[in-house]
Amino acid sequence: MIRKWWQDAIIYQLYLRSFKDSNNDGIGDFQGVISKLDYLSDLGVNAVWISPHYESPMDDNGYDISDFYKVSKDYGTIEDVKELIEKAHKLNIKIIFDLVLNHTSDEMDWFVAAKDPNHKEHEKYHDYYIWQPPKYNEQGDRIMPTQWRSWFGGPVWEYNEPTNEYYLHIFSKKMPDLNWRNEDMKADLKKMTKWWIDLGVDGFRVDASNHIEKNWDFPEGHPGYENFSSIPKHHEYLEEMGKEVFIPNDVFTMGESGGASQEEAIKYCGFNNEEFDMLIHFGHCWADGDWDNKITPGKWAKGKIDVKHIKYSFDKWFKMLKGEGWNIIYWHNHDQPRILSHYGNDSEYYNESGKMLAYTLYFMPGTPIVYQGEEIGMTNVDYKELNDFRDVEVFTEYKNFMNQGATHEVAMQALRDRSRDNARSPFQWDSSVNGGFSQVTPWMNTVKNYKEINLEKQKNDPKSLFNTYKSIFKLRKEESINNGDITFIDIDNEDSYTYINETDKSKFLVVANFRNVKIALSLDINIENYKNIYYNYNIRELTNYIELKPYEALVYKLDK
Ligand code: NOJ
Ligand code: CA
Repeated sequence: MIRKWWQDAIIYQLYLRSFKDSNNDGIGDFQGVISKLDYLSDLGVNAVWISPHYESPMDDNGYDISDFYKVSKDYGTIEDVKELIEKAHKLNIKIIFDLVLNHTSDEMDWFVAAKDPNHKEHEKYHDYYIWQPPKYNEQGDRIMPTQWRSWFGGPVWEYNEPTNEYYLHIFSKKMPDLNWRNEDMKADLKKMTKWWIDLGVDGFRVDASNHIEKNWDFPEGHPGYENFSSIPKHHEYLEEMGKEVFIPNDVFTMGESGGASQEEAIKYCGFNNEEFDMLIHFGHCWADGDWDNKITPGKWAKGKIDVKHIKYSFDKWFKMLKGEGWNIIYWHNHDQPRILSHYGNDSEYYNESGKMLAYTLYFMPGTPIVYQGEEIGMTNVDYKELNDFRDVEVFTEYKNFMNQGATHEVAMQALRDRSRDNARSPFQWDSSVNGGFSQVTPWMNTVKNYKEINLEKQKNDPKSLFNTYKSIFKLRKEESINNGDITFIDIDNEDSYTYINETDKSKFLVVANFRNVKIALSLDINIENYKNIYYNYNIRELTNYIELKPYEALVYKLDK
């Protein structure tokens, strides 16, 4: 198999709205990205995945697209996109766009025609979406077709009076789901994708890719997620996109799917498959839920971090795809809290835990995706008021928490700990007003710690998180760490994170304490000739028995 560029890449996930505002309207934009390309190149990344940039009413920050062919005026123009692609390519940086194929905005002209029986194109577009007639209860009242729940906390059905039907939306009600059983709809999506490829984009991250098929029997279910997640037929659609659009045009793709069996994983991203090149999966992401909590249920309640679960998830994926496909490694994206606040400790052990998380992730094999701001140790938000938040999900869930008996304070704490907005606050460039993101009040507030935590402060400090990331990224390339073979040494240990990643030239041994208390560890390996190359307290010689301080982490290298 010919080696592909993305196997050796380090990808940066860039949240466009919050990266850099160039024209001082408080919103990040393409010219802002262009002005920081040198920064990305200096950090050592060679591909950038940019969150949706299309025209949108911004109900879900651009995942609700109203015109696939237009750039949102918030972000700039098509000329800016062309300029970005050209300038990024000069720095050997590839541009990956977000491709949203599961739904559109309700303001998209397709849906405007679909919902209105008097619209001249109603007939064509009605079937682009998913409709069901109402049901009636014993009293004769109209009720929803099913009790399925949307990912954002409310029902999946919204009533449309003019047609006396409900439409399905597995995300917000402003995001009606597309009907992939409609051939014209699919043809339109393919045409649109090709249009962006022709503009010069190098790849796509395909949003919600395991949700595109639904259970068309519409059985009862609550929450009913199984009726719109990973239904086998979605592979047929993805393969069709691969065969007809992605593969012939040689664009890179990564899909998004919560989980997968080995058979499915290989369908998604096996070397010989025809769906995607890589898959973003989430097994390691919410390893600290308190699933029994009734007031702020699901991901919203914080429990103890299950370190074993994190290791098992990565290990499972490495084993499933070994020799058969290529893995992605990442800590979090724009849908989860900041890693340093989530799995680390952003108060007492800021530096120690920040580095521990960098060592544990970035010495594993696979292609890394670093999330904007992670490289400077940005933290969760510090918002005090509900209206400091922006995410559509926050507002539905806040109401749910209050109905379930939460106090305002408990609900607010859940939002500060777990909401998606945590990862979306503006990038902290320097200690000037708004962290150097914008001269005017940003679309969402900068976290107040920007005076202490910012790029400018870390740039010239060799011990900073930023320089740690940068140096590891450099080493990753020199040593082809993406290509290694990993063995966890302590997979059943509940507190530590220890593995060897063997590359062609070297062995990298990472020894880490994931807890905020001391732990002791016995390493049953031959420790000879390992040299300590990274440490977050003091340099240490390797011994078989080690006592580790809170979050202490060490990286050793053995030349083969
Ligand atoms: C997954 C995206 O990552 C998330 O941010 C978005 O809300 C949903 N898909 C819907 O597009
Ligand atoms: Ca702007």
